[in-house]
Amino acid sequence: MPSRAHTIWNIQATLTLPILWSFTALLLAMIIPPPSLNTQLQPVYHHSPRAHIDATGAGRTALILTAHPDDEAMFFSPTIMGLKNHGWEVRGLCLSTGNAEGLGAERVEELKRSYGVFGLQESHVKWLNDSSFPDNMGAVWRSEDVQRAVSEYLSDQPADVIVTFDKHGISAHPNHASLSSFRPAPSSTHPTMLYHLNTPSILKKYSGPLNPVFRRGYYQLAKGMSEWADLFDVKLPVKADFSVTSSGTDWIRSVRAMREHKSQMTWYRYGWLASSGLMWANDLTLVV
Ligand SMILES: *[C@@H]1O[C@H](CO)[C@@H](O)[C@H](O)[C@H]1NC(C)=O
Repeated sequence: MPSRAHTIWNIQATLTLPILWSFTALLLAMIIPPPSLNTQLQPVYHHSPRAHIDATGAGRTALILTAHPDDEAMFFSPTIMGLKNHGWEVRGLCLSTGNAEGLGAERVEELKRSYGVFGLQESHVKWLNDSSFPDNMGAVWRSEDVQRAVSEYLSDQPADVIVTFDKHGISAHPNHASLSSFRPAPSSTHPTMLYHLNTPSILKKYSGPLNPVFRRGYYQLAKGMSEWADLFDVKLPVKADFSVTSSGTDWIRSVRAMREHKSQMTWYRYGWLASSGLMWANDLTLVV
């Protein structure tokens, strides 16, 4: 059995890296200029033309499917803003009220205000208060229930694109990962594209504003090399179909949205916000 002192040391060791990085990233965020003026929806090198979500946002609808109030601001900000900036109508569906600490009623109000900061109409923000989806670190939501609830929502409010968590769920929260099982019903008249938000490696996760800088460079390089790769039939190590990066102004808006989640804004969340790579860039993989 590990001793008490040993356990405490372990906890300290796990916390030290993110905290140190938080402060470094905050410093870097202040020193490094924003990577660009406009949010970029950058298609990554790929073969599937269906992976293009950027071209014509006008008149098209995207649904952000999340598990708890604050997921949208903490993880999906670059995607929400990228889509909005390209003329998409963005809607939000959150499968729980985030009631783990009995704050459900307060948190759904925060959800509405957070999406309001991103410019969504209140009628386009929906949440469920359904006992199948408890806000609980130990609960895997059943895929049949997720499938039923989201399909019900879509039959009322169809979407051209859905963006949700991948099977790692960013923070390994089983509620997040449960959403990755959802698949839109096949339809020839109104097909829906489904994208998963890639769970980043630990380094990318805490890379703050360096994340978009690296992503841009990397994907630019991959694109430049793609013709050569085709010629020699080489598969490039690019794991996303889309990379969405935020500008400095977009990032500030994400922080404002996050700050609407007042019940969640403990001191360490500020460190997380400063160091989070996901507040700056999202990599999306086309699932169907
Ligand atoms: C969710 O439902 C429960 C039980 O019906 C209710 O007590 C609670 O107020 C509801 N929460 C919200 C946020 O609507």
